[in-house]
Amino acid sequence: MTKARVFSGVQPTGHLHIGNYLGAIQNFVRLQHEYDCIFCVVDLHAVTVYQEPAELRRKIREIAALFIACGIDPNVATLMVQSSVSGHAELGWLLTCVTPLGWLERMTQYKDKSAKQETIGAGLLQYPVLMAADILLYQSKIVPVGDDQSQHLELTRDIAQSFNSRYGDTFTVPATKLPTHGARVMGLDDPEKKMSKSATGTSHAIGLLDDLAQAKKKIMRATTDSNPAVDFETMGPGVRNLLGIYQAFSGASNEQMQNEFAGLRYGDLKKKVAEQVAQSLEPIQARYREVTTGNLDDLLRQGANRIRPVAEATVRLTKDRMGLYT
Ligand code: AMP
Ligand code: TRP
Repeated sequence: MTKARVFSGVQPTGHLHIGNYLGAIQNFVRLQHEYDCIFCVVDLHAVTVYQEPAELRRKIREIAALFIACGIDPNVATLMVQSSVSGHAELGWLLTCVTPLGWLERMTQYKDKSAKQETIGAGLLQYPVLMAADILLYQSKIVPVGDDQSQHLELTRDIAQSFNSRYGDTFTVPATKLPTHGARVMGLDDPEKKMSKSATGTSHAIGLLDDLAQAKKKIMRATTDSNPAVDFETMGPGVRNLLGIYQAFSGASNEQMQNEFAGLRYGDLKKKVAEQVAQSLEPIQARYREVTTGNLDDLLRQGANRIRPVAEATVRLTKDRMGLYT
């Protein structure tokens, strides 16, 4: 029996942080042996806002190297760069033509991002249609992402269903896979805000490649609340976030969490979380230093070459369904 397909993407912008790891990449690693996985560096998404070209080129390789460092085996899963398979852009256009503008204007990520920009590129509005194309292009069944992408996945399903009902069965309708813990890691400095690559505060996020002593300091400085110690009934968002980070990295059960943390003073809580984070990041950083760039380019090209026929078949089918020239 053929394995069901999994697809997910990460943008080559900013610094990957523990939210990206716990929300998405840790699940990529878990799923790779059970499913036919494609993990993609989505450079076409990155250019929806200006990227300095040399820096973008460097970032694409950094993300690919981090995928491997986090435990993705390129001999098991397919690693690729989005722009090296033209079907992403091609299907993106075809799906644009069946997507009502109102669906895109409702996307909260678009509303947030466009509010921060003086002039808004059309690509920013288009962004979730390209994401739908990424997923539908490979007839993906499962899409592992963090919670902030749930709305985009719902839109993907709406686009697939609306195309299927208008033109006949064409696309697999994908399911969202969120991690049990770590689906929404919050900023250490402000636990009301999602940890984000673009936030500027020095104590906001922990980068996967951060110096570990610095990373521990950031946790020791994290915002908590006015209680003195952990109380699972009354804890505020800062404490909940720290416990969530610990649980997502360690895999501890709820019962183990209760036993280990109930009544613990915040200073000791932070020490435990800091130790756990450092212990989990250390092997990732060690492997990252071993991944070489030359080899990486070959792997990415091979990944794209291996998967391109699937993309071409879907584009051909879609064009045929729509009556376009094939
Ligand atoms: P991005 O960096 O926006 O390309 O996101 C890559 C993946 O990380 C996506 O699946 C996001 O949902 C996930 N992600 C980003 N930020 C967080 C966060 N703070 N908590 C959990 N998952 C996140
Ligand atoms: N929009 C996603 C993010 O910012 C990245 C992405 C692009 C993606 N295409 C995708 C995620 C397809 C899952 C599947 O995190």
